[in-house]
Amino acid sequence: MPDTTPAKKALLEVDDVTIKFGGLTAMDSVSFQIREGEILGLIGPNGAGKTTCFNVMTGVYQATSGEVRLDGVSLAGRRRHKITQLGLARTFQNIRLFKSMTVLENVMVGADAHSKVGFFDALFRLPRHRRTEEEALAKAKGLLDLVGIKARHDELAANLSYGEQRRLEIARAMATGPKLLCLDEPAAGFNPAEKVQLMQLIKKVRDQGYTVLLIEHDMKLVMGVTDRIVVLEFGKKIAEGTPAEIRDNPAVIAAYLGVDEEDAS
Ligand SMILES: Nc1ncnc2c1ncn2[C@@H]1O[C@H](COP(=O)(O)OP(=O)(O)O)[C@@H](O)[C@H]1O
Ligand SMILES: [Mg+2]
Repeated sequence: MPDTTPAKKALLEVDDVTIKFGGLTAMDSVSFQIREGEILGLIGPNGAGKTTCFNVMTGVYQATSGEVRLDGVSLAGRRRHKITQLGLARTFQNIRLFKSMTVLENVMVGADAHSKVGFFDALFRLPRHRRTEEEALAKAKGLLDLVGIKARHDELAANLSYGEQRRLEIARAMATGPKLLCLDEPAAGFNPAEKVQLMQLIKKVRDQGYTVLLIEHDMKLVMGVTDRIVVLEFGKKIAEGTPAEIRDNPAVIAAYLGVDEEDAS
């Protein structure tokens, strides 16, 4: 049957990826695509292989077989910083910030991944770099504004609240100028009201023209924000579809009921 969906370009292709850790197959022939401009949810119970998928995409792990392509370019065998330069940025399930740097400096480090002028050049204010530095500063402040923590730009990252640190991580990832922004459980540890606020932020980010891959383990949370959802369980893709399709999918319901109450919520 001819495919009648409007042709939206596949920005990222995960093509038949398998990765084994000793006897454990953490991803088992997983394939899916992310289209330009969409928010794709990657969900599944704890241990399903979601973070491993990010790690393969970003060059932390090499796939045992299969490959990931960004804009048609294979990421296989590429170093992490190269993958960032190609346009793939991520945040981490456990926050990783430079705690003894200011909020603004943390974002500047992100911007440095793309610029020819180094962060340290900017720090020492070499005259020929001054203009680029000013542009980078303006851009960084704009990103802090977008994520809602601009007023805190001079504060040390360590002094931010947990929720502000999560937002800073997103701003830092965005500062690398990514084609695809990958967020690994950005709402982990949040109360329900904070989670809703974060989902609103993710929508806002997408409306700025970013494509977003969102890992979340709370199924309800991703329903309201994603365009499509891919579900993993024990390293296998068990479903893919719109939020409505996923909500009614028996295999997905079974996967979520197979774990404890809180996970099924
Ligand atoms: N570096 C590693 N070495 C061995 N096993 C790993 C490694 N990374 C992940 N795993 C295993 O792969 C499986 C998937 O983990 P993960 O991707 O973190 O799941 P999720 O993010 O969906 O909760 C788990 O069983 C985990 O223990
Ligand atoms: Mg994980």
